[in-house]
Amino acid sequence: MTHIRVRAERPSDMQAIDVVNISAFKSDAEAQLVSDLRNTPGYIPKLSLVAEYKNRLVGHVMLTRIDLLGENKNLDMLVLGPMSVVPSQAYRGIGGILLKRAIAKADKMGFGVIAEVGQTDYYKRHGFKPLSDFGLTHNLKGGEGDITVLELRQGLLSGGGKLVFPEPFKRVCENAA
Ligand SMILES: CC(C)(COP(=O)(O)OP(=O)(O)OC[C@H]1O[C@@H](n2cnc3c(N)ncnc32)[C@H](O)[C@@H]1OP(=O)(O)O)[C@@H](O)C(=O)NCCC(=O)NCCS
Repeated sequence: MTHIRVRAERPSDMQAIDVVNISAFKSDAEAQLVSDLRNTPGYIPKLSLVAEYKNRLVGHVMLTRIDLLGENKNLDMLVLGPMSVVPSQAYRGIGGILLKRAIAKADKMGFGVIAEVGQTDYYKRHGFKPLSDFGLTHNLKGGEGDITVLELRQGLLSGGGKLVFPEPFKRVCENAA
């Protein structure tokens, strides 16, 4: 799809980002998650990206720093999500464009691994693999099958470990359980 501009969020985008998330998820839980993640130490403004089409915000994706406990504890790691595209523009490639740009940006900034919670089938199409492939555990309520990870450089996760997601993610998962 042409004419999609991807850029970092600005303070003036906050309401429009809420609308994108609420309309995509048909709930305000993910918009709240985005607001809550902005108040965590892992928030990286440059990695909260919006997609613009004809000067309107039509998509959003957020990547936040998370911790990994164990042998690989010095690995710089992110969680991707939520990601959303407004329903009127869905299935036109915008999600794919946002995801590729987010991954490329994280890679350029030196991050090694990106985790994702939920919608595993969509992310598997973009190279994410189940946690069980890497012997990883996590601090969320829910099955291993709900989380996938992408190694930006092969072999980084060979030592396994425990993913520590920030509180806002734990809250959303507990409410959904
Ligand atoms: C998931 C989402 C971000 C994808 O954005 P998009 O712009 O519609 O995606 P794209 O156009 O790049 O990709 C569409 C392809 O992905 C597939 N796809 C979309 N959602 C999917 C899902 N949940 N599981 C598996 N495949 C999915 C489509 O079938 C389509 O496949 P095709 O290319 O073979 O036809 C968007 O549909 C959305 O906002 N959904 C609601 C919110 C959500 O679930 N977000 C993801 C979890 S954080």
